[in-house]
Amino acid sequence: MTPPLTQSSSWRNLLQHRDVMRRKRLLDIALVEPDRLKSFELSLDGLRLNYALNAVTAETIALLMKLARERDVESWRERMFKGEKINETENRAVLHVALRRKETTPLLLDGHDVMQDVKAMRQKMARHVTAIRNGQWTGATGKPIRHIVNIGIGGSDLGPRLVTMALQSYASGPQAHFVANVDAADLFSKLKILDPAETLFLVVSKTFTTQETLLNARTARQWLVEHLGEQAVGKHFLAVSTNYEAMKAFGIDAENALPMWDWVGGRFSLWSAVGLSAAIAVGMDHFQQLLSGAAAMDEHFRSAPLEQNMPVMLAMLGVWNGTVMGARVQAVLPYNERLRDLPRYLQQLEMESNGKTATRGGGEVDCVTAPVLFGEPGTIGQHSFHQWLHQGSDAIMADFIGVAQDADHQPEHHRVLLANMVAQAGALAFGQTQTTARHELYPGNRPSNLIILDRLDPFHLGLLLALFEHKVFVQSVIWNINAFDQPGVELGKRLATKLLSGENPVDPAWNLLMNLYNQIAVYCKT
Ligand code: F6P
Repeated sequence: MTPPLTQSSSWRNLLQHRDVMRRKRLLDIALVEPDRLKSFELSLDGLRLNYALNAVTAETIALLMKLARERDVESWRERMFKGEKINETENRAVLHVALRRKETTPLLLDGHDVMQDVKAMRQKMARHVTAIRNGQWTGATGKPIRHIVNIGIGGSDLGPRLVTMALQSYASGPQAHFVANVDAADLFSKLKILDPAETLFLVVSKTFTTQETLLNARTARQWLVEHLGEQAVGKHFLAVSTNYEAMKAFGIDAENALPMWDWVGGRFSLWSAVGLSAAIAVGMDHFQQLLSGAAAMDEHFRSAPLEQNMPVMLAMLGVWNGTVMGARVQAVLPYNERLRDLPRYLQQLEMESNGKTATRGGGEVDCVTAPVLFGEPGTIGQHSFHQWLHQGSDAIMADFIGVAQDADHQPEHHRVLLANMVAQAGALAFGQTQTTARHELYPGNRPSNLIILDRLDPFHLGLLLALFEHKVFVQSVIWNINAFDQPGVELGKRLATKLLSGENPVDPAWNLLMNLYNQIAVYCKT
């Protein structure tokens, strides 16, 4: 049984250290160790994490790593990679790493080698991607597929959407569109511009029970049948799910149904057939490079000493800035327009994984856990919420993500972009206190990490996304929470279903809610 965090000796040492560090300015800390710009940087295969603009010293890092060891990060890491059922509330293993695993040696789960399943899925995925991209797959009227519509939500949308956007310079196949919201505007904004004869729908849903996805899928199916007839469904729908029966009932035959497994969490699933839309857009070779990047980060995470371990360092800096020093907001600021969907992706990855207060043992945490995560690409955010970042009343922490090599070969634009990124990090860190006018005071001491990719290519994108997956896992271990279930999304789903069913209220709260819903429904009729 993992003891409460605040009872660990490492925690008490960190709090004492915090009291010392709080009296120092980040600028003074940075000036004391001038070589920190180099020494406070980790690098892996063209991905760099520079954490020099944090209010930390070598002593801070040592104390953080002591805490990581005391919380058994290394043994939890091994338990995950070996397929232990560390998602205890759902009695499931957590094996998204198997989806990009290079080794073909068996990885047994309940005596079954999951690597055989992964291999078969990847082969089926590659068959479909190739046929769709080279025109062998034709629609009901014999036309090749020119448009893909991914119908899914959460992890069945955000990952493939992000990858497709980030790798748009590698896109050469059918154009990918993404429908997630049950608001009909999302689906019909796509249907109105699409030719059904050239359109292939991918219904992606781990459970195949998600209300929004099934309604969107049924409506898309009805649209297709109205244009091309019932017999067209088999040529214009693929599905990805663990739920074969439900896919079959929808009209998807076995050849067009791709598997998912319960040992892959939705928000960790883009590496599986959930990534089909992205693979169709950029091709299987590039998708494989994405997997290779993630595999490289997996190997690093599994083998590097904690002090040199990028996911562990990123995680422990977040514990220092958030849980110890009190920052309750994590800004994610990708200074790259193609990464504009990264903050939304990380919102689910981080907040659905660690936005919890229940401990693994069924108790309550004794510390704050995941912060609010938000962000927009730079330099856009500088003209909307950066005022708040610099002079707002809340302690924040920021991750800046930059790309060294400019895919658009526009050096002037790229210099301005990167100069703004570094300037923003500096202003947050050092502030502006030498001013007579109070409104021109910047408090500074707002920490940030600079995460720099050599290039925004599939391999480095895979490195980056796996970095954040493992960061989230390490933090969950420190906080002693289960990062891999999401019980907090169920109540809202149940209430919506009850409102829609018109079920008679059985308690005052339910009665009040039903009355409110009916009152709003009246407005809809006016
Ligand atoms: O948000 C709840 C959730 O279950 C996510 O974890 C998941 O990614 C999403 O809904 C969609 O679930 P499914 O892939 O089963 O449709």
